[in-house]
Amino acid sequence: MEVAIHASEAEACRDAARQIAALICRKPDAVLGLATGRSPLGVYAELIRMHRNDGLDFSRATTFNLDEYVGLRPSHPSSYNHFMWTNFFDHINVNPARVFLPSGTVEGRDVEGFCQRYEAEIARAGGIDMQILGIGSDGHIGFNEPGSSLASRTRIKTLTARTRQDNAPYFQTIEEVPYHVITMGVGTIMDARSVLLMAFGTSKAKAVGGCVEGAISAALPASILQMHPRAIILLDEDSADCLSRKDYYRWVLDHKPAWQHSSLGRSRSGEDGPSAIPAPERLRKAVDGSGTGNTD
Ligand code: GLP
Repeated sequence: MEVAIHASEAEACRDAARQIAALICRKPDAVLGLATGRSPLGVYAELIRMHRNDGLDFSRATTFNLDEYVGLRPSHPSSYNHFMWTNFFDHINVNPARVFLPSGTVEGRDVEGFCQRYEAEIARAGGIDMQILGIGSDGHIGFNEPGSSLASRTRIKTLTARTRQDNAPYFQTIEEVPYHVITMGVGTIMDARSVLLMAFGTSKAKAVGGCVEGAISAALPASILQMHPRAIILLDEDSADCLSRKDYYRWVLDHKPAWQHSSLGRSRSGEDGPSAIPAPERLRKAVDGSGTGNTD
């Protein structure tokens, strides 16, 4: 696990965007796992900017979103489908046929079949190369609330009262917040080849503390990321407030060997480094220095 404490949310989001761009340059048909919520908004804005200004090309990429509210049509303004199109997909050249989100309208007996097909689609795409994550104030990832099996797959879950409250600002009233969601499981998330978790602000500090330095437990699902071989935690000063080893995390980044500087974009076997990036010079510059190293 690598913990990067940035001076600001904007800086952390630029770091995340550069890492995603480096992956797409190296592997144009990359499979991205995407998240909703406030945390990744700056990343999407930066990726849109890189698409417009630097030619970052999403045409061969595939995306899978983490979760969706049960009962909301894709056009519902509070649906995650709507969120992703308005905040990201509408502004890049992604192929709509390669955009996958859990359904908000599947019901009853069809839910289980849908979830199995979602898992099968991820497998058919070759698995997720990089999963973007936020974290709930209770330590959930996706919508895997505390108590979720750490081996779980895509399925229906019931939100806690706290999460409904946290997410109420995205709806007109709290009564409108659905009780049920379909979410990738913790096991589905753990299968991604790399994971980028972003958390900003004091409201996330406790959950981040548990995720990075707490005991691994279903009581705080994000803590399982300690078992992931390539998990990067991108924070601002406020969300890092409860971490006891801040100085060491900074020390690691400050003393990173030069060859690790673009390493998140590297394949696992490590055969291709930054020099393999077949992108225009501007894009090459934009992603230069991206990446991390000591991830486990
Ligand atoms: C929701 C989403 C999560 C997200 C979390 C935090 O619960 N299902 O995927 O990480 O909110 O959202 P935010 O980034 O807005 O704090």
